[in-house]
Amino acid sequence: MNIFDVYPLFDINIVKGEGCRITDDAGNSYLDLYGGHAVISIGHSHPLYIEAINEQLARIGFYSNYVVNSLQKQLAERLGAASGYEDYSLFLINTGAEANENALKLASFHNGKRRAVAFRHSFHGRTSAAVRVTDNPAILAPINEGMPVTFLPFGDPALAEDEFRRGDVSSLIVEGIQGVSGIYDPGDSFLRNLRSLCTQYGVCMILDEVQSGYGRTGRFFAHQQSGIRPDIITVAKGMGNGFPIGATLISPMFTPVHGMLGTTFGGNHLACAAAIAVLNIIEQEKLIDNARRVGTFLADELRSLPGLRELRGRGLMIGLEFEKPVGDLRRRLLFEEKIFTGAAGTHTLRLLPPLSLSREEAAEAIAKIQKAIYSL
Ligand SMILES: Cc1ncc(COP(=O)(O)O)c(C=O)c1O
Repeated sequence: MNIFDVYPLFDINIVKGEGCRITDDAGNSYLDLYGGHAVISIGHSHPLYIEAINEQLARIGFYSNYVVNSLQKQLAERLGAASGYEDYSLFLINTGAEANENALKLASFHNGKRRAVAFRHSFHGRTSAAVRVTDNPAILAPINEGMPVTFLPFGDPALAEDEFRRGDVSSLIVEGIQGVSGIYDPGDSFLRNLRSLCTQYGVCMILDEVQSGYGRTGRFFAHQQSGIRPDIITVAKGMGNGFPIGATLISPMFTPVHGMLGTTFGGNHLACAAAIAVLNIIEQEKLIDNARRVGTFLADELRSLPGLRELRGRGLMIGLEFEKPVGDLRRRLLFEEKIFTGAAGTHTLRLLPPLSLSREEAAEAIAKIQKAIYSL
């Protein structure tokens, strides 16, 4: 059997990871400024993370959601305290798309409406409702076209109000900082305006923090800089440091009904043990402060790169948009300088390293990026 060929692959077989470094099967070591697409929060193969997963697996890895799982309660308490959302409830699933799918569904159950408002260049996942609110027709199958959605540009709250006035909007979904499209910040005052309009018109406000959450921007959630509190927050990527786990954080205004949401694997023992270990390590090693400090250092140094059109982002979520396409630069970084980076479109590099990136590693990255640019 072959692998279904849906990704253009770099021919590199990663076999080991430690901290912010990964190693391939030929023994080459790479500095990881991509974090496996913003997933690695605490660094690769953290000893306390390995220990927690091993210990849990030796006890029990999985049992059904029809019995009590005290690890879920523990995780909910820890996540509530770490994020400042103690009064919210937690629904655990496995991926970012599932987190958004459940958020959109919950909103629709709650207010009985169908339409969603989303934003241009958004990415929310590939399941049916999540892909429908994603602004990329190329990944929308005919089967996904049913749900009504309106895409708006960032910046003009009056456009959202025009839609809300029609009375059929169930939810508004927005990324804390848009990731896949190239690191675009909705802006604090725009988020505050959207928050008050959602309240005024009874529209559920969903903040997708799948990529921008879990400390990546130097706060637990990117939206917390604006001071708003959304009705639903979705997380995944950094939550399990690679162990598949996602979550929908639900405000007290929603009333749960048995059977309205459900999952077989979501919130299993092993995933909870991984996610609790991640929170412990983020706290013990002050990784959110580190993301803010090292991110600021990186941004300050990279801002003067030759050929750079714009630097966007916060903390360790950085977009570098160049005047020329970045394909050759990215390949040079990977194959010559041994640095993994992400890309968005043709002109933007994305830096999404582990939150544990040290200042020395950041300095090494800066020197290598400069060298790669000068040698192109
Ligand atoms: C903002 C955002 N939401 C949702 C998703 C989907 O997450 P997953 O691939 O885990 O389904 C992603 C993935 O890149 C994302 O960046």
